[in-house]
Amino acid sequence: MVQTICCIGAGYVGGPSMAVMADRCPGLDITVVDLDQQRIAAWNNLGRGSLPVYEPGLEAVLSRVAGRNLRFSTDVAGAIRKADMVFLSVNTPTKRNGHGAGQAADLTYIEKAARQVADEARGSTIVVERSTLPVRTADVLHRIFANAPGARFEVLSNPEFMAEGTAISDLECPDRVLLGGNCESSLDDLQSIYAQWVSPERIIRTNLWSSELAKLTANAFLAQRISSINSIAAVCEQTGADVDQVRQAIGSDSRLGHHFLKPGPGFGGSCFRKDLLNLIYLADHYGLTPVADYWRSVVEMNDWAQQRLARMIVRQLFGTLRDKTIAILGFAFKADTNDTRESPAIAICTELLREGAHLAIHDPCVSEQAVQQALAERQAGSPQAGAGQGSFQVQHRIEAVFDDADAVVLLTDWAEYGELDWSRLAPRMRRPGWVFDTRRGTDLAAARACGLETWAIGSGEQF
Ligand code: UDX
Ligand code: ADP
Repeated sequence: MVQTICCIGAGYVGGPSMAVMADRCPGLDITVVDLDQQRIAAWNNLGRGSLPVYEPGLEAVLSRVAGRNLRFSTDVAGAIRKADMVFLSVNTPTKRNGHGAGQAADLTYIEKAARQVADEARGSTIVVERSTLPVRTADVLHRIFANAPGARFEVLSNPEFMAEGTAISDLECPDRVLLGGNCESSLDDLQSIYAQWVSPERIIRTNLWSSELAKLTANAFLAQRISSINSIAAVCEQTGADVDQVRQAIGSDSRLGHHFLKPGPGFGGSCFRKDLLNLIYLADHYGLTPVADYWRSVVEMNDWAQQRLARMIVRQLFGTLRDKTIAILGFAFKADTNDTRESPAIAICTELLREGAHLAIHDPCVSEQAVQQALAERQAGSPQAGAGQGSFQVQHRIEAVFDDADAVVLLTDWAEYGELDWSRLAPRMRRPGWVFDTRRGTDLAAARACGLETWAIGSGEQF
């Protein structure tokens, strides 16, 4: 029976998922480890500062389990040595250099973590893949463990389907838990943990490869829906249709359903783009070029969705942004998270900066340092690096971004942007003043009543 768990990687997945597991399984002793000392210090700072991950409901769960049966530590080796089961929850970014750069997953972190497990584990150890991985990564792990002297290993795949911003409810009441593996007794051990709070009909057992591929496929299908609706939003704008009416009509078809049909500035987050690229790489690898091209178009549509918004803003502001101030509402890739990975705000702000704009950026949760890092990385990696003449400033008070702004661009669907008091904010702006709403997240009728011009994604009736 499993009693002691080590989770390697204290990130957006590792931290919250182990907190919920500790909460629901008081008999388990869980240590979450990470090489990043600052991250571990922040996790241990509960109640005295901000956690590394902003997630509604997380603090309440942590306050019940931290120090009871959940610990955060930098002693990776020590935690592995004690563990009956090791969860691998390290990052798997897209490769930047070498063969497969820009598409294949970079397995450096997973390989390093696995080697450490191979060196430190004692006795019989179950290793569970949690990160989203390219299909057949378990083969890599098997090969590393085959040469380990001190222990016997079983590799399972247990991909996590939680979304940021709703992580705690997704983890507490998952649609399903997927367990992949070829060893029934190890699968039984893992299932007995989830069975403490997830009903049996929601636990799905498959072979290793189906489990790995199912995770990529789920993300690819979700991303595809967003690219689909964003492509239709652009058609709506040209034809006089309204994307909200279209999505209500198509979502009412029970075969399609209402979820994941909201238009926006394109999908962001750590998973969708990376997993689509993984799938494309896999298809290309097996010579399935039409399959690769099909999924490639979902990524291309997403890039286009971001570029077209930036171009539209420049066009509406008379073709130049020089000496203009643009207020950016929201920098996180979605509401209720402080995560900026692959955020559409990065590409859109970069384009506006290149046109010479001054950006006044507000986000309720993203730190100034995170905005600076994201924009600097993007500019460094772009072929037109240095071309931008613009500048940006991060403001914590929302009123401040409206001061002398020529336009407001809403990029993240934070609830507070739906409650803006336009009668108070609009007078702070220059005229003619614009509001560009890429999420349909604010009251444009109220903005218009204050004399502002407005644009909403997917609306054919522009005012
Ligand atoms: C996603 C998957 O949902 C989750 O199952 C997986 O484990 C990790 O990847 P996440 O990236 O955290 O989760 O957030 P998600 O809610 O899926 O949103 C992804 C992006 O799609 C965001 O940028 C969001 O704004 C965008 N989106 C989502 C839309 O533009 N429209 C929608 O209707 C839904
Ligand atoms: P995710 O969103 O998948 O949780 P993150 O990047 O937020 O991804 O978290 C992954 C974490 O894994 C990071 O905090 C990183 O420092 C940690 N990590 C990567 N490699 C190792 C390793 N070999 N040992 C311990 N921690 C690691």
